[in-house]
Amino acid sequence: CGIVGFTGTNQDSTPILLKGLEKLEYRGYDSAGVFVPNADADADTLVREKGRVADLEALVATKNISGTSGIAHTRWATHGVPAVKNSHPHVSADGRFYLVHNGVIENYLELKQKYLSDVDFQSDTDTEVAVQLIAKFVTNESLSTFDAFKKALTLFGDSAYGFLLMDQAEPDRMYVAKRKSPLLIGVGDNFNVVTSDAVAMLDETHDFIELHDGEVAIVDPNRVQLFAADGRSVTREPFHLDIDAAETDKGIYPYYMLKEVDEQPVVIRRLVARYLTDDGQIKLGQAILDEMEAADHIYIVAAGTSYHAGLVGARMFEQWSNKPTSVYLASEFAYEQSILSQKPFFIFLSQSGETADSREVLQNVNEQGFHSLTLTNVEKSTLWREATYALPLMAGPEIAVASTKAYVAQVTLQAILAYALADANQMTFNLHEQLSEIAVAIQSIVDDKAVFEKVANQMLVPETTHSAFYIGRGADAAVALEAALKLKEISYVQAEGFAAGELKHGTLALIEEGTPVIALITQPKTAGLVRGNLSETTARGARPFTIVTKALAQTGDDYILPDVNPLLTPLVSVVPTQLLAYYTSLGRHLDVDRPRNLAKSVTVQ
Ligand code: G6P
Repeated sequence: CGIVGFTGTNQDSTPILLKGLEKLEYRGYDSAGVFVPNADADADTLVREKGRVADLEALVATKNISGTSGIAHTRWATHGVPAVKNSHPHVSADGRFYLVHNGVIENYLELKQKYLSDVDFQSDTDTEVAVQLIAKFVTNESLSTFDAFKKALTLFGDSAYGFLLMDQAEPDRMYVAKRKSPLLIGVGDNFNVVTSDAVAMLDETHDFIELHDGEVAIVDPNRVQLFAADGRSVTREPFHLDIDAAETDKGIYPYYMLKEVDEQPVVIRRLVARYLTDDGQIKLGQAILDEMEAADHIYIVAAGTSYHAGLVGARMFEQWSNKPTSVYLASEFAYEQSILSQKPFFIFLSQSGETADSREVLQNVNEQGFHSLTLTNVEKSTLWREATYALPLMAGPEIAVASTKAYVAQVTLQAILAYALADANQMTFNLHEQLSEIAVAIQSIVDDKAVFEKVANQMLVPETTHSAFYIGRGADAAVALEAALKLKEISYVQAEGFAAGELKHGTLALIEEGTPVIALITQPKTAGLVRGNLSETTARGARPFTIVTKALAQTGDDYILPDVNPLLTPLVSVVPTQLLAYYTSLGRHLDVDRPRNLAKSVTVQ
């Protein structure tokens, strides 16, 4: 979920909050709501709507809502179906307190039974328990709002929350609390804001104060008071965020995803300029390299697309740097840690730097005293702050839920690290040159959009296409997983990525007349084998499509990729698969950037 709050002295908060929600929509779009206090009895103060932020905006346009402060929320449903009654802000039974929440209060049913059996609940959410508890503590125990808020927080155990609370009796003030969910306070002249992600408030300010877990804050138009969990007052200077607000706009593009696919050559060039000298030397902190050098095993931990980027990176750490490397899904590793080597080193891959499962692992790693490096697109994010080292992916804000340029950035940065750790005498190529060629190669592929639009329309868009397969071996098998994820998440075609040789051990049973099977053939060692596996599917009626590097191409191949170093081909071969997914989603008239049921940044476990 995404939350945003504003408190000022003269501007109307409503448009600022709504614009903020638009930018936060990647965090959830099941429903949205806004609360703007106003003493005028004729004013509307709470407006909530099921669906997108645009639906909320349409409803707001019919209402009389304005004021100089307010809180707003866009929801990714966890407890309770998407519906107006389950939308935030939630209100206490006495109508005095309004609360927005990101996270999950795990013991909410227990708290409801213990403290609130006499309250008539309006929603099925865990959040409403929090606001009813606060109201109860104020009424029954004569606590101040702040003390009631803090008391409620002590009851939530290990739960994750970012809270923004407003009290009708103090309409200019926001009470803020954070634990495991991201939250920043933005400071301005005669106003302050609170937001789950700085990008939502860049039109207002570029200066933000980090909140740490367990901290609470009182935010007024001209004052921010920050407190540690033990009540001690905390002083923390704001940091300046150097992102151009325009970077978060779609510009001429119909969808963010297409813009982000097109930006990939630039992202690679930016990483090259930041991390490599012209003659291929690495510009990286020596401490990171020393620690990685000293490690006897690298553990890569990530989720979703970032996990797939890790599968590609691991091959480079093993084959170039001679480092045993394992890749783990954060959501599994957090609860079932493998036996570790003597000197492990952890790499966390995360576009957002906020994924709750990855953070759980990082906390375990920190408790065990091991060192780590986070590669993330969001500087100052949680995984950035809590790892021993962090390096920026420099991909620029990624807004589409389906990740594209962050994957390419993660693979590129891992390549740079693996190259830095490799024995220079063994490396037969200059990474600077290779990556520059890859940027050109990607440009040639994104210039071929019409090709992929046509293929998508023929093979994947028709309603008769229910499933599709990507196959490949080695690095291609890793790309097949990412390609299938991209396709399924935005087109809803049931897609599977498969190590080509494994298909015959069960999945081949799913091949029917006309089932699209897309083969990635970029690895010299296994090209022939993948072709054989593809034939096994066409013999059973599959409709094949081949994506092949020039050196391995044969007559009849469908799309030819420029040749690059075999372990770096994922940077190139993934691009056609991104475009196929994009045009399939478009051809099926779906919302490319905001696929159903998903959110870009998942801060619940
Ligand atoms: C969500 C997003 C994916 C992303 C995954 C991991 O599921 O929709 O695009 O790959 O989270 O996110 P992270 O920010 O840690 O890379």
